[in-house]
Amino acid sequence: MVTGTYKDRTLNIIDTLFQQLVAVFVLLVLWEVFKNYSLSNVHAWHVILCTIGIGLCMAEGLLLFNKENSFLKDMDRATRGTVHGGVMCAACISLTIGIALKIDQKVQASSNHFTSNHSKIGLTAWILILISAIIGILTANIRRCPGLGKPPLYRIIHLFLGVSAYILGVVALGFGLNYLESLTGANGKIALMVFLALYVAYSLLGPIKSCYNHFFG
Ligand code: HEM
Repeated sequence: MVTGTYKDRTLNIIDTLFQQLVAVFVLLVLWEVFKNYSLSNVHAWHVILCTIGIGLCMAEGLLLFNKENSFLKDMDRATRGTVHGGVMCAACISLTIGIALKIDQKVQASSNHFTSNHSKIGLTAWILILISAIIGILTANIRRCPGLGKPPLYRIIHLFLGVSAYILGVVALGFGLNYLESLTGANGKIALMVFLALYVAYSLLGPIKSCYNHFFG
């Protein structure tokens, strides 16, 4: 429970709203999938796994960067790092399987690959996520290998690649929403886009602050 100043309480309300937005977005997309596809359909798993990877795991993983987050105030830096690593690892696995299933489905159907904006941006996001994850693992262990260079340099590269990958992933997700069949009509799609934009902007606050502190702090 949050006690204390008005600022603490306001932040707690905003953090709660953010979590609600993430939950509503992910559940609406999943509801749409369960309504229209059987779970034996490979495409359904592409949508489920990619939405969970970008829309849930990456959003929550970035949230751990926001030091002012009222839910995480008591979490020390080392625990945040471990949870961030675990959640981002889940995002990588989820996306890798989701994209691999789609590629395999297109191979079976002998269709051309990476022809749409959605697929080109999604593939780029996935590659950047993997590179960023490797640099993140190096950043976490750099003190054990002093010959590899300075930790702040690795940290800023990891941050820059990770944020770029997230933004591209969200754009791919946005394009992906257009493929969903009914989604309560055009207004439903606009509502989902607005939810997505709001929570993406909010989840980027922590990384933007980290960048600012790195260069000007
Ligand atoms: C609501 C969520 C999503 C839906 C409904 C969706 C739907 C689709 C559809 C219909 C295709 C086949 C047509 C095409 O190639 O454009 C596709 C392909 C693809 N999607 Fe998604 N997608 C979603 C999320 C994502 C996300 C978040 C990513 C990655 C960050 C992603 C990455 C890809 C890639 C790389 C392909 C190309 C596979 C190939 O050409 O072999 N998708 N998606």
